[in-house]
Amino acid sequence: MPWFTYRDGLLCAEGVPLARIAAEVGTPAYVYSTAALTDRYASLAEAFAGLPVLIAYAMKANANLALLRHLGSLGAGADVVSGGELQLALKAGIAPSKIIFAGVGKTRDEMRQALQAGNTGIAQFNVESEPELQMLSEVAAGLGVRAPVAIRINPDVDAKTHRKITTGKAENKFGISYRRALDVYAEAAALPGISVTGVHVHIGSQLTDLAPYEDTFIRLAELVTALRGAGHDIRRIDLGGGLGIRYDDETPPDPKLYADLVRRHIAPLGCEIALEPGRYLVGNAGLLLTRVTYVKPAEAKTFLILDAGMNDLIRPAMYEAYHRIVPVKEPVSGAETAPVDIVGPVCETGDTFAEGRPMPPVEQGELLAILSAGAYSSAMASMYNARPLAPEVMVHGDRFAITRRRPSIEDMTALETLPAWFSEAKA
Ligand SMILES: Cc1ncc(COP(=O)(O)O)c(C=O)c1O
Repeated sequence: MPWFTYRDGLLCAEGVPLARIAAEVGTPAYVYSTAALTDRYASLAEAFAGLPVLIAYAMKANANLALLRHLGSLGAGADVVSGGELQLALKAGIAPSKIIFAGVGKTRDEMRQALQAGNTGIAQFNVESEPELQMLSEVAAGLGVRAPVAIRINPDVDAKTHRKITTGKAENKFGISYRRALDVYAEAAALPGISVTGVHVHIGSQLTDLAPYEDTFIRLAELVTALRGAGHDIRRIDLGGGLGIRYDDETPPDPKLYADLVRRHIAPLGCEIALEPGRYLVGNAGLLLTRVTYVKPAEAKTFLILDAGMNDLIRPAMYEAYHRIVPVKEPVSGAETAPVDIVGPVCETGDTFAEGRPMPPVEQGELLAILSAGAYSSAMASMYNARPLAPEVMVHGDRFAITRRRPSIEDMTALETLPAWFSEAKA
């Protein structure tokens, strides 16, 4: 990754040595590269040049406001999945006309917020079930408007990714079965508060093979033709996200080849195209900077115990995900490696970043970088074990800024109150 390279023996984010960030901000800390975000966005935008495409960043991957603001300034819209994400997207300056609302459990309140965002309401609701259609219609009709709707189709395609991030199989909770689509569109068109405008799919995340996309696009194009034949004015096709990135030695698809599939199967339908990339835009734009608290030789193996834990980066514990982990001080060339377990301080055996990982000699107090931690890392963090959320730092050339500070214990308890009876005098 060109944005995180060794210079003069020290790992840098763009022009900033990570050791400087550690000294000024402390560890653990997430570090994001602005240049990486710009590069990823540009590569996708270029791949789709000439097509009417909206890149709606799936902000569930990382909802840091500065990062959102930067992607928004490049032209990105937002794919949101909650009222909270909607408010953050608006706060970051993303226009309602570029916001798409997905998710299986939208509440009335969230629907109302989205319908009233700005003066216009948002671009599109991706509806996942018939009860949701009914509720959205009621809420919209109550406000005297029609909600622009794409129905999420579950194409029953195997995305060939980890089972916990596959979403387009019949047994997954997402979307409406391909076979029932015509009936559900007919139902939607008859509802007073719904305007049927599009079709949506999202088959999974971290796809490293284009074949499932092609299967999906072929099915989708047939469906759009059938829907138009039934009188529906389908104007937008939302292809979801899912483009994989390299964590280890994967060969993720080139976005140009992905765009070629879209040109072949989807573009001839003459619709506006929406994409919802998350991981692709931010995954390799961030790392988690951490310090080795202890090197613990044990009977069976040696542990590197870090000051970052599963609460900061849960992907290895949740998905058995692989992250490269490298010393901030460049290892001498040809340094021998030995297998170690790299773990966090949390009281869970699952708090393990890597088992039996070959590492060059690492000393207590040394800094390490856990790479590819821009997506689904800070976004999934928690304060488990009363550990403060790690701060977020954005690098821009040879400058950096703290874009979310480390909370104090007062911040961490700010929402808590003790019941009045604790302070009432005993009779
Ligand atoms: C509906 C939807 N769109 C987009 C995404 C983003 O996926 P990715 O980060 O793999 O691009 C997700 C992720 O789960 C999703 O559920």
